[in-house]
Amino acid sequence: MDIDLIKLRLKKMLGDERLEHSINTSKVARRLAIKYNYSADKAEVAGLLHDCAKDLDYKSLEKMVLKYSIELDGIIQKIPKLLHPLVGAVIAKKEFNIHDPVILKAIKAHSTGASQMSLLDKIIYLSDKIEPLRNMNGVEEVRKMAEKDLDGAVLMALDKGLIYLISKGSLIHPISIEARNNILNKVVFV
Ligand SMILES: [Fe+2]
Ligand SMILES: [Fe+2]
Repeated sequence: MDIDLIKLRLKKMLGDERLEHSINTSKVARRLAIKYNYSADKAEVAGLLHDCAKDLDYKSLEKMVLKYSIELDGIIQKIPKLLHPLVGAVIAKKEFNIHDPVILKAIKAHSTGASQMSLLDKIIYLSDKIEPLRNMNGVEEVRKMAEKDLDGAVLMALDKGLIYLISKGSLIHPISIEARNNILNKVVFV
């Protein structure tokens, strides 16, 4: 699907702020893709669509889970926030006609990370966290690192996300720990 058409359809699905966040994410993703030798067009599409299910209410998310037999593990069942990446990947496929498994996986992995993160997974995970509207603690540090070391920046963003979840007493999906361990192995123990 053509980028302008994707934006037009997204506009009907997302609130203004979420749309701005998605467009910002796609711009950062495009820039990082060029920097780290990946397809800028694929990164732009994944960035635009990563939160396409985020403004659905819980009932609609549940309906999609049932309709498309999306498998949920025990942790995801307890963290409703983690439904939108999985449902988002299905919407990207069914409603936006995106069939590239690499793009669909990057959408799925944008909240938790993934055990083995592809280059696009990393670009989208990071773009979502550092786009200009984001203001989490230490975001400037991650933005700077993203300019020189993609793995280092993803590790930093994962760490900050985990520290935040612990500070809130929240559940942590084990995939995020696996993602961190695998990137840490690459960054520190090479
Ligand atoms: Fe999200
Ligand atoms: Fe997002």
